[in-house]
Amino acid sequence: MSDLKSKFLKVYDILKSDLLNDPAFEFTDVSRQWVERMLDYNVPGGKLNRGLSVIDSYKLLKEGKELTEDEIFLACALGWCIEWLQAYFLVLDDIMDGSHTRRGQPCWFRLPKVGLIAANDGILLRNHIPRILKKHFRGKPYYVDLLDLFNEVEFQTACGQMIDLITTLEGEKDLNKYSIALHHRIVQYKTAYYSFYLPVACALLMMGENLENYTDEKNILIEMGTYFQVQDDYLDCFGAPEVIGKIGTDIADYKCSWLVVKAVELANEEQKKLLFENYGKEDPACVAIVKELYNSLNLQGVFEEYESKSYEKLISSIDAHPSKAVQGVLKSFLAKIYKRQK
Ligand code: IPE
Ligand code: MN
Ligand code: MN
Repeated sequence: MSDLKSKFLKVYDILKSDLLNDPAFEFTDVSRQWVERMLDYNVPGGKLNRGLSVIDSYKLLKEGKELTEDEIFLACALGWCIEWLQAYFLVLDDIMDGSHTRRGQPCWFRLPKVGLIAANDGILLRNHIPRILKKHFRGKPYYVDLLDLFNEVEFQTACGQMIDLITTLEGEKDLNKYSIALHHRIVQYKTAYYSFYLPVACALLMMGENLENYTDEKNILIEMGTYFQVQDDYLDCFGAPEVIGKIGTDIADYKCSWLVVKAVELANEEQKKLLFENYGKEDPACVAIVKELYNSLNLQGVFEEYESKSYEKLISSIDAHPSKAVQGVLKSFLAKIYKRQK
């Protein structure tokens, strides 16, 4: 494991222990154990890309100047706030999407003793973020901006989740309504802000920067986030569950996935009929028919084409950026996700 990652994981233990000893609540042994198990199950088990990106970005923005131990701790703490935000959204997302596995284990709500207690655990995870921020950032000049940033991004993500969910009601009426424009809008809100903009914005606030001066960077990060979610949609169908750690549900859930948008675009009348008859059905036989149709439309090839085009477009907008340090931040992000298998 990299040095940075092991440092990052040590900060998790510190933040967890802060939260388990929060004086604002009189924990009993049982309630403390519940929260500890819930956190260990849901927070640290992912790729940690978003969290680690705060430290990476901060380092690159510092252009080679050594970070103090204190700066490293704070950047890690902000990274963990993003991982907490992600855990909160995923615990609830899995309930809403009826998912079975996440990060190679059953979804939290699928555990017999958990069930819908998971809904409140999601709320608790969300509440941990301002508690972490209060404990470690209260005296900082950028504290208010940090709170505001997390609030804004949470709102955008929740709206994205809303349109992801309510769009399926439209799709059920008429699958022709699914378009790239609609897909772009959903994924920009549900994924791009919190996964790509938020880590960099955290690093910028730590640097004392005003986020209003970074709209170009924000736009590039949102495009990168869109590309990332197209990959997620692709992997939902074509990824190996053992590798991505989750079993896809997009077809059964009637989701406005990038794949179904492309399928509607490319299908002839006969294929469209087949798609309309089988999309959004729980029955594995129907899901299999949709996957077969995706194969006959060569959606894997269409995706590979999209992937290299997006990569080239992103690289050229990054290269047009005046600052080498910012270019470095954006390219390190892109390198982490280009052709990802999980
Ligand atoms: C959910 O998108 C994004 C958020 C959690 C905000 P998906 O529903 O596609 O995510 P997965 O595929 O379940 O991880
Ligand atoms: Mn989901
Ligand atoms: Mn998905």
